[in-house]
Parts: sequence; C-alpha cells; structure tokens
Amino acid sequence: MALYSEKVMDHFRNPRNVGVIEDANGIGEVGNAKCGDIMKMYLKIEDDIIKDVKFETFGCGSAIASSSMATELIKGQPVSEAMKLTNAAVAEALDGLPDYKMHCSVLAEEAIKSALEDYNKRQEN
Ligand code: FES
Repeated sequence: MALYSEKVMDHFRNPRNVGVIEDANGIGEVGNAKCGDIMKMYLKIEDDIIKDVKFETFGCGSAIASSSMATELIKGQPVSEAMKLTNAAVAEALDGLPDYKMHCSVLAEEAIKSALEDYNKRQEN
C-alpha cells in the first residue's frame, strides 16, 4: 500500500488557497518545535462567515496537504463551525495520514484556531 493517499498527494502537488490575504482580519502562525515547520493562516471573515482563507506553510508534504485541506473545509463556513475543526477531521478528509505524520495535521488545526482567536481579539477592540 502506498504510504500516502492520493488525496494527500493531490493536495501536496496542487495545494488550494496558497498565499496571503492582504486585508485579512484574522491571522495565525504556529510552529512545531521538533520538526521546525511553520504554518501561517489568513482569514477574511464577514458577517461571521469565512469568506476567504489562505495559507503559507514552510513544512513537510503532509503539512502542506493538511493546510490545503483545512482551508477547503472551513471556507464558506461560519466561525463557530471552523472553531470545531479537528486535526482528525483534516486527516480523515485526506483519507488518512501515517501515524507519525498526524502531528502535521495538528499544525493545521492550531493555525486555524490561532487565526480565529486573533479575529475574536480584534472584535473586542
Ligand atoms: Fe513537521 Fe510535518 S514534519 S509538520
């Protein structure tokens, strides 16, 4: 059996939503100290809906595929739904990741949560 699913390979080779949103109103950056990979998420939220989401990932193939899939899963969703996104859901949507690569999907969950927290903070001001 191939180590990586076709979906992982597809999202690694053709990642969706790569880039920067200049007027983002929620930005989150997280890293994994062990592997040194970094993920940055940009959200454009209007009327409580995630209108646009983009990412920049300096990391392994699984991290890139996880970021790409995570952006696809939350785009167009209300903030409350995006908050519920788990790394397990990202990995499942990718048809699985090898056990030792699950932490790469955790980075995607954390990056989105961090961007949503930033958005919430900005609303308080
Ligand atoms: Fe670091 Fe995948 S090895 S996120």
